[in-house]
Amino acid sequence: MPKDRTISAEEMAQQKDYINKIKQMTDARETKPLAFVETYGCQQNSSDSEKLKGMLDEMGFGFCESPKEADFVLYNTCAVRENAELKVFGNIGALKHQKRRNPELMVGVCGCMMQQPHIAETIRKKYTHVDLCFGTHALYRFPQLLYDVMKKQRVFDNANEDGSIFEDVAYHRDGPPLAKIPIMYGCNNYCTYCIVPYVRGRERSRDKEHILAEVRAVAAEGYKEVMLLGQNVNSYGNDLADGLSFAQLLREVCRVDGIERVRFMTSHPKDLSDELIAAMAEEEKICKQLHLPIQSGSDRVLKLMNRKYTRAQYMELIRKVRERMPDIVLTTDIIVGFPGETNEDFEETLSVLKEVAYDSIFSFIYSKRVGTPAASMEDCLTDEEKHQNFDRMLALQNEISKRKNDMYLNTVQRVLTEGVSKTDAAVLTGRTEGGKVVNFAGDTALCGRFVDVKITKTQTWSLFGECL
Ligand code: 5AD
Ligand code: SF4
Repeated sequence: MPKDRTISAEEMAQQKDYINKIKQMTDARETKPLAFVETYGCQQNSSDSEKLKGMLDEMGFGFCESPKEADFVLYNTCAVRENAELKVFGNIGALKHQKRRNPELMVGVCGCMMQQPHIAETIRKKYTHVDLCFGTHALYRFPQLLYDVMKKQRVFDNANEDGSIFEDVAYHRDGPPLAKIPIMYGCNNYCTYCIVPYVRGRERSRDKEHILAEVRAVAAEGYKEVMLLGQNVNSYGNDLADGLSFAQLLREVCRVDGIERVRFMTSHPKDLSDELIAAMAEEEKICKQLHLPIQSGSDRVLKLMNRKYTRAQYMELIRKVRERMPDIVLTTDIIVGFPGETNEDFEETLSVLKEVAYDSIFSFIYSKRVGTPAASMEDCLTDEEKHQNFDRMLALQNEISKRKNDMYLNTVQRVLTEGVSKTDAAVLTGRTEGGKVVNFAGDTALCGRFVDVKITKTQTWSLFGECL
């Protein structure tokens, strides 16, 4: 795959010109215009939003916490399941009145949903108060598109260009200690339920030097932890000439001074190599945490899903991982009610949950996605049966998660403090190496720092403790 997937310097210079033109326009105003950017979906999408906000920063925008105060509202959308889409439509619809009262308000929608032609068409026809609509492939052109909107044009840019990479972006990140670093974009796997390959294009890896430069830059800014992002990080580098594997990249990231923890997501079980397991076990900075989506415990369903592994092969991976890292925190994704799934298949999924005993799971009821192979497969179960199965699964997993968390009682955990708890200003919140949330009383001066916390109470989703 060609390296020239990276957007050319000339193109980026053109976009920079648009940034400067907008900056002149915003500077001419008495007050800074405010943008409200809301993100749906995965870490990849929130990383894209950090780029969009970085560009808005450079254009002279400030940010606000609610669409009501905004001069520009931008929803960065997710297409993975229908409920995320419905929420977006609801939110855009709610802006209709605000736009009527204030015609100067600019309304934008972008991201995975907008990369789907039928959605862009719906926005064009039914949501006529939307000024700007662009898909994931047009992300780098955001300055030009916004400029046209500011010049009173209605702009749609949803062409399928099968992806690109753009570098030299001034991210607007949430402050230290955690930085998200995309290492690759897109997905080649075509799991039959998944829209991602259609809206994010083919896999393309960033050059190692760009990634390492970014890791060094965030380290210099005081970030302590990086999360390397990709839909399938284990196939990092397959499209590059330098032959570097994901495990080798991880090891190089670990050499960056100042970064003390390295995480990654997501791994596809079919590509989880012994080399990666060895790197995880050997490199102290790599967190002993693995998110390994299994999706279903039934071989028949896994085949229908085109996952390219069997339950036995998956269990062998878990065995190998635990052999090298007995205390590793394991999490997974499960889809309930995939077309063709029977109650017997579902029992197999429950038995996997018991056998692996994950620390936690992310579970979803199957959602039909236009254009994917599974959309035309026959359903076996009724919606009611699917919901019943889903509830049974959650009850089982909650028991397992609580049991797993109970094992932390009275242990001392090294916690990286992330900030103040959303529900109690006197409580700080952070994470263990395994990614478990720990709440504890402490001074805000500890934010961004490592502290030792003795665990005194456990719940299904989090741990509580005392700072030592
Ligand atoms: N319906 C339900 N869940 C889905 N996922 C992806 N596509 C669908 C869908 N059509 C889930 C998978 C994936 C996670 C990110 O979202 O479990 O791992
Ligand atoms: Fe979707 Fe499968 Fe790619 Fe994950 S690996 S993004 S589930 S196609």
